[in-house]
Amino acid sequence: MTHVALDLAVDFSAKRLAGTATLDLQARPGASEIILDDKGLEIAAITTPDGKPLAYAVGATDAILGAPLTIRIGAARKIVIRYKSAPESGALQWLSPEQTAGKKHPYLLSQGQAIENRSWIPTQDSPGVRQTWEAKIRVPAALTAVMSAPKAGEPVTRGESRTFSYKMNKPVAPYLIAIAVGDLAFRDLGPRTGVWTEPAMLDLAAAELADTEKMVAAAEALFGPYQWGRYDLLVLPPSFPFGGMENPTLTFLTPTFIAGDKSLTSLIAHELAHSWSGNLATNATWADFWLNEGMTTYATTRIVEAVYGPKVAAQQIALGIDAMNSAVTDNGGPSGADTRLHIDLKGRSPDDGLTDIAYEKGAAFLRTIELAVGRERFDVWLKGWFSRHMFQPVTTSIFLADLRQHLIKGEPALEAKLQLDRWVDQPGVPDNIAPADAQAFAQVDSAVTAFKSGKQPDAATWTSWTTDEKLRFLTRIDQRQPTKRLAALDQAFNLARAGNNEVRFAFLTLSVAARFDPAVPALEQFLLVQGRRKFVRPLITALAEDKTWGRPIAARVYAKARPLYHPVTTRDLDKLGLIAPAPLRP
Ligand code: BES
Ligand code: ZN
Repeated sequence: MTHVALDLAVDFSAKRLAGTATLDLQARPGASEIILDDKGLEIAAITTPDGKPLAYAVGATDAILGAPLTIRIGAARKIVIRYKSAPESGALQWLSPEQTAGKKHPYLLSQGQAIENRSWIPTQDSPGVRQTWEAKIRVPAALTAVMSAPKAGEPVTRGESRTFSYKMNKPVAPYLIAIAVGDLAFRDLGPRTGVWTEPAMLDLAAAELADTEKMVAAAEALFGPYQWGRYDLLVLPPSFPFGGMENPTLTFLTPTFIAGDKSLTSLIAHELAHSWSGNLATNATWADFWLNEGMTTYATTRIVEAVYGPKVAAQQIALGIDAMNSAVTDNGGPSGADTRLHIDLKGRSPDDGLTDIAYEKGAAFLRTIELAVGRERFDVWLKGWFSRHMFQPVTTSIFLADLRQHLIKGEPALEAKLQLDRWVDQPGVPDNIAPADAQAFAQVDSAVTAFKSGKQPDAATWTSWTTDEKLRFLTRIDQRQPTKRLAALDQAFNLARAGNNEVRFAFLTLSVAARFDPAVPALEQFLLVQGRRKFVRPLITALAEDKTWGRPIAARVYAKARPLYHPVTTRDLDKLGLIAPAPLRP
């Protein structure tokens, strides 16, 4: 499959996308069939472009992968699939007007990574495949459709509907095709950057994103020219399941990163960095996911250092190392198989690899290499890596071979020092890891020590701290606190209702562990106003696991909150058995 052309109508009342996907194929002479990925698509017909029907069969459904769609292509090298997505498509979320900021219009959003796009596009849905693509999307005339590609002409209004056209001329992996439809407005942030969001959110979003153009410039200086033309951002409704998603030319963002003080904008640096690590050089399989996320996490702190200075970067690295260590604990300790960078996903969902091992152990690996060879030499290699592998899939072994050829160049002492194979194939964290700067949080760390002996930071100290410093404090104090200590913290700093969502989440996590009743209304509200999986999944899971105190709260709140959450979030949370399964449809 080398090119996909979508021609789809967005039907909000049926919760379906319906139309055609036309696929260009490249095949061996004599090849007689193609197998596509299909998750719940309703296929009406598959034909050649001139309408000659092609035989096809949908195989047995696998709960994780969906079903193989086998098409007898004969001599055809272009095929037209007429289909509809199912209302329960795992990629798509259909929001009612009440679930948007404006309350007037419905909203559609998609999330393709890792293997969700097969629920709305019949495709070879592997990250090791690349295709160019284009789309014509018909929506109700009041709405705007945006996608992860440059627009191809102005929208055409005909009667009650408008058709938007997009075209991606660079080959991308299928998980990077994305769509959102809603009442959207746009504002420029810089010459090649801008923000899309609902009109009611535009001022807030644009203010928070004011550093975007600077970040693109910093990233180009580090990693080489930006290859995608524009870098725009879409700030979605709060049900968007991730912090951000690096859809090419149009990063998708949760609105929960808006803190009013740009303190959570390393998220933007992260999604922007994927324009190189991930979108140019793409993990060939989901077992190589650390190459996408570990490189991006490393690259994020480099951008943050360039834009916000070395102290902020050192602090974020230190927070990352704590997160890595927690991930090791959560994944079976230093000998746990899932603490390996190159993980084994046989028979499993790629979602199992979405841990801070990929992100933070991956980043630590790259920092370790940087420290060993020096920044100057490392940066030459890094730029070279992106230019050597742009628009290509990369595996862990391609990465190691490239390092050996272009960076280590046969220096035995360096090879021995780095322990490359140990880093990628073995569990746990090698002892040559580049350490966090022990002084990065010196002041906060003494406050943590003082807290242990009963002394709480005073208000002046707390308010003088940056968000990262507050997070260091809240994640470094004992995670099982007596309720009276949480009450004192909450009283002094209003943490259960903190305006900064990361700070609030950290405090609510402590509150659930301590069964701190006074925080329950704020907790409930937090779970009802946003659906970011990183926030809602751990909180609801921890509540559900506390059989006497927490579970009734989880059951009550999840029943109310579930309609707000994206399918990738409810899919996991439903497994907790908090609410009775929906009756089977007749
Ligand atoms: N590409 C990821 C999100 C993702 C990964 C979605 C795997 C589905 C499967 C994105 O770049 C990401 O890492 N988002 C983080 C942001 C953070 C680490 C700054 C998130 O959403 O929390
Ligand atoms: Zn990422």
